[in-house]
Amino acid sequence: MNKKEKRSAHDLLQIFPSVFKIDEKLATLNSYPGNTVYGERLIDIEEKEYRMWDPFRSKLAGAIKKGLRSSGIKKGDSVLYLGAASGTTSSHISDIVGKSGIVYCVEFSERPLRDLIGVCEIRDNMVPILGDARKPQEYKKYIEGKVDFIYQDVAQPDQMRIFKINSDMYLKDGGEGFICIKSQSIDVTKSSKQVYKSSLKELKDYGFTIIQEIELSPYDLNHLFVHVKK
Ligand SMILES: C[S@@+](CC[C@H](N)C(=O)[O-])C[C@H]1O[C@@H](n2cnc3c(N)ncnc32)[C@H](O)[C@@H]1O
Repeated sequence: MNKKEKRSAHDLLQIFPSVFKIDEKLATLNSYPGNTVYGERLIDIEEKEYRMWDPFRSKLAGAIKKGLRSSGIKKGDSVLYLGAASGTTSSHISDIVGKSGIVYCVEFSERPLRDLIGVCEIRDNMVPILGDARKPQEYKKYIEGKVDFIYQDVAQPDQMRIFKINSDMYLKDGGEGFICIKSQSIDVTKSSKQVYKSSLKELKDYGFTIIQEIELSPYDLNHLFVHVKK
């Protein structure tokens, strides 16, 4: 059980919808007060509860720390999350979309999925899906209509193509996405810069507009975080 701290409103600075800084550290407004997901600290400020968000454990938090200009995801959005693992980042996205939004969490490995299911039992705006992101038609039955946003963190050699096929099937026209490009999963024989360049070209060739690209060091090495629009 986490020991809760209390702070004053002077310590709180809002940077995006439901995303705050408390003493320069990131936090999301907890949509499910009293619950933690990965042992993060909880802080009370004027009757609201905030969950601290570690940029070394979540690439979206790392991207925000490194200057992401728009959180992209808004309250009420539907989000398709590919590579959810045990739910660390997707739980913060669940805070951002709030109870009027939904996060479809696709994960193909059974071990992290077990922990993810535990998170989704409490966070009822998260839907756990055992599925392979390379076969988007297989989880069609779980997803209602098209989504506003796709978040992808699958660390696979064909990750641009995986994003494209999921976007074709599920992303609204004008919808946006975040893609975590792990250069070493794509080609270890090339430098990270070469891999980023060819990956960005592939995304543009698929017709996506690149809104922003952020190198994630020191939070994650050999990773480029890319914000795109369909
Ligand atoms: C780096 S971890 C994700 C961490 C998570 N995004 C977070 O920040 O909390 C990558 C995850 O993608 C999953 N994954 C890789 N390829 C996948 C695929 N084709 N379909 C579904 N999940 C996949 C892995 O099993 C792993 O759990």
